Amino acid sequence: MTAQNVIHVQGLEKSYKQLQVLRGVDFDVARGSIFALLGSNGAGKTTVVKILSTLLKADAGTASVNGLDVATHPANVRESISLTGQFAAVDEILSGRENLVLVARLRHLKDPGKIADDLLERFSLTDAGARKVSTYSGGMRRRLDIAMSLIGNPPVIFLDEPTTGLDPQARIEVWQAVKELAGRGTTVLLTTQYLDEAEQLADRIAILHEGRIIVNGTLTELKQLLPPAKVEYVEKQPTLEDVFLTLVGANGKNSHDRNAGTDA
Ligand SMILES: Nc1ncnc2c1ncn2[C@@H]1O[C@H](COP(=O)(O)OP(=O)(O)O)[C@@H](O)[C@H]1O
Ligand SMILES: [Mg+2]
Repeated sequence: MTAQNVIHVQGLEKSYKQLQVLRGVDFDVARGSIFALLGSNGAGKTTVVKILSTLLKADAGTASVNGLDVATHPANVRESISLTGQFAAVDEILSGRENLVLVARLRHLKDPGKIADDLLERFSLTDAGARKVSTYSGGMRRRLDIAMSLIGNPPVIFLDEPTTGLDPQARIEVWQAVKELAGRGTTVLLTTQYLDEAEQLADRIAILHEGRIIVNGTLTELKQLLPPAKVEYVEKQPTLEDVFLTLVGANGKNSHDRNAGTDA
């Protein structure tokens, strides 16, 4: 791998009994970039993330994170990553702030209260910080989940389907949080089954299909794979998403009160 590549994956194979899920997966992720692993349900995205985060062993191939091989140095790899799974791992009974303080304490960090307050601020959760997580909307929960995974400043973060199950408003809030992360130099590998999510967020997009990466490039590169569009004169109709967001008022800012309890 080159110095700029924080994640290096080569020839990764994994089967569950007879089911060959990964048949030779190769990709690299540059430092400070957002890389989207795009694939339909069951494509093997979570399997890749589990191997990279040392939760699962590959049958063949190599993978390294920060120059450390996941198979031979799992403990070092775990120190440099954080993983946010598809289902939020927050404690419902505690407040948002208490969740953050708890994790900071578990990691033996100095001044857990300040760490919590800074993260609440960063993820626009300050007003909701004292409330029980059970009262949070889906988008707020997911933002809290991402905030929790940032405690201790891991240089690499894996987000496994960060917006699956969220409403459009909440998805935009999570996208903003992810963009902000990468803006601060964190390397983000996210998986998604949504084309628009990859389009919105990723510096590079790799499509995982039938066990292999079938294309890998920037959005512009991917678009060039298709023949150029013919020029046609049509009225541009707003998409349903445009209409929805206009009606509910997507002003790009997080609004806690409006979000409270609007989705699960
Ligand atoms: N522990 C397991 N045992 C057997 N099959 C599994 C296991 N985990 C995942 N699979 C199967 O492997 C395939 C890929 O799963 P997964 O990596 O979760 O896909 P994705 O995250 O892209 O939806 C799916 O067909 C899934 O049913
Ligand atoms: Mg998955």
